[in-house]
Amino acid sequence: MAKRAIGIDIGGTGIKAAIVDTKTGELLTERLRVGTPDGGEPEDIAQAARELVERLEPKPNLAVGVCFPAVVRHGFTQSASNVSNEWIGLNAHSLFEAYLGRHVHVINDADAAGAAEMKFGAGKGAKGLTIMTTLGTGIGTALFYNGVLIPNSELGHLEIDGENAEERAAFSAKEREELSFSEWAKRLERYYKTLEMLFSPDLFIVGGGISKSHEEFLPLIDIDTKIVPARTKNAAGIIGAASLAYRSQSD
Ligand code: BGC
Repeated sequence: MAKRAIGIDIGGTGIKAAIVDTKTGELLTERLRVGTPDGGEPEDIAQAARELVERLEPKPNLAVGVCFPAVVRHGFTQSASNVSNEWIGLNAHSLFEAYLGRHVHVINDADAAGAAEMKFGAGKGAKGLTIMTTLGTGIGTALFYNGVLIPNSELGHLEIDGENAEERAAFSAKEREELSFSEWAKRLERYYKTLEMLFSPDLFIVGGGISKSHEEFLPLIDIDTKIVPARTKNAAGIIGAASLAYRSQSD
């Protein structure tokens, strides 16, 4: 029988959810999406998550993995990027369990996306240090050493040339400043070179919705480390969160 769980990916602009086969990484349903409620307040987001989960599975049964753009430690969200500051110091685990009425596992969104890539995608079997980066509203990062996650790395907020790296190099910066792919690639090159200097990684994986257009910008990034697009694309967070939620039921 399929080892199923629900994955929810909460972002600054949208909330996406699907049922996942955690053995194969496949989505077993269509990916539902709603806009993130204005202000990104905890109760509003939890309510939106409940509506999505009830559409996917009306009778509570499956575990739910929730991934979120924040540092998440022991179920508490400790930061808030592109959502309300009310999330800082909040017991997100309890909040989601109360709203969803099921076993819940909460994790940083980039860590979830990275977990999916390590298990099912471009990082499968990778040895040494892999750095997953997600390019979206912000820059999310996940570090894996020999496949083991070192959580909450937050390297999107490195200060480079006096600025918060994600302000200059996230996909949102390309859109906001109407940068061409080659202009954006120069900023990404500066970013990845800084990561190379600090961490000497063996592999970079590039995720986020824009990674489907990787041919437009990855070849323009001149660095020494191998850099490859994510394979699980836009569903990475959902797949990773669901897999970790399924596994955490037996913890
Ligand atoms: C947040 C991270 C998150 C990333 C991608 C950053 O602004 O600080 O926690 O992983 O955005 O959503």
